[in-house]
Amino acid sequence: MQGKLQGKPPVVARDTTGLIGTEGPVWAVIRAEAAALAEREPMLRPLVQPVLVSASGLQMLARVLAARLSGGGVDRATLEQLMTGTADDELLRATEADIAAVVTRDPACPGPCHVLLNLKGFQALQTYRFAHRLWQDGRQEGARFLASQAALAFDVDIHPAARIGSGVMLDHGSGIVIGETAVVEDDVSILQDVTLGGTGRDVGDRHPKVRRGVMIGAGAKILGNFEVGACSKVAAGSVVLKPVEDRTTVAGVPATVVRVHGRAEVPAEEMSQDIS
Ligand SMILES: CC(C)(COP(=O)(O)OP(=O)(O)OC[C@H]1O[C@@H](n2cnc3c(N)ncnc32)[C@H](O)[C@@H]1OP(=O)(O)O)[C@@H](O)C(=O)NCCC(=O)NCCS
Repeated sequence: MQGKLQGKPPVVARDTTGLIGTEGPVWAVIRAEAAALAEREPMLRPLVQPVLVSASGLQMLARVLAARLSGGGVDRATLEQLMTGTADDELLRATEADIAAVVTRDPACPGPCHVLLNLKGFQALQTYRFAHRLWQDGRQEGARFLASQAALAFDVDIHPAARIGSGVMLDHGSGIVIGETAVVEDDVSILQDVTLGGTGRDVGDRHPKVRRGVMIGAGAKILGNFEVGACSKVAAGSVVLKPVEDRTTVAGVPATVVRVHGRAEVPAEEMSQDIS
């Protein structure tokens, strides 16, 4: 599968027409997998239809998300328009890197079509990407609405102002909370029930800064404005209240250093998260 995802990401100009059809390799794989799925399981045709009728990767993404997020008086078509009208090539590249991250890191993942159609951690992250773009464009109400629909639909609450890099996996998704001034750099993996929050004592810039390649285990709470260093691991169930050095595992409540890694490990990519 990795081989199928290799190649240059597409360049998609800012799309206000919904007609842009520049395709990266992943979207062609998704379309082929969706067509095969519709053949095998005709009952699931309504699920894959948004993929099959879409002219571009951006449309596929927006249609799949709109089907999940519509409600509160806002219909699918309006949501789709809201999302496609704000996307650009940077967003699509991040989405492609996120798909590749899940396919390569999740041993249970059969392929990119499954990621797009079924994985709510991925869907929540993509909704955030559109909400963040709206936020940057000064459209705070639209951004908040999308974030709120995502919290309802996926049980993932990401503030639209948070800054999240690409190649990020939100595994399982449920219960993840990422605060307004949090930063998550590229190639990070975050498992269910993780909070990147404030302590409740600070205002302004008050949330964690998670550097590249970090793996954050299920249920971990990282509270406060400090760095979680590159390629470090946060053990499941930890409460982290102090900075974490690069290439370090922390565990416990409150978390303390339990291991310093060799230079070769990239925990998020290896998803070396086993509990023996
Ligand atoms: C932390 C983790 C990533 C392992 O990292 P590691 O750097 O390889 O650490 P080690 O396994 O060498 O463990 C180092 C020490 O931390 C302890 N430790 C590991 N995980 C721990 C946890 N969650 N809580 C408390 N202590 C933990 C180990 O017992 C060990 O202690 P010891 O040195 O006294 O024997 C892994 O234990 C973990 O928590 N993974 C998250 C998995 C997850 O969220 N799964 C959900 C799947 S749905």
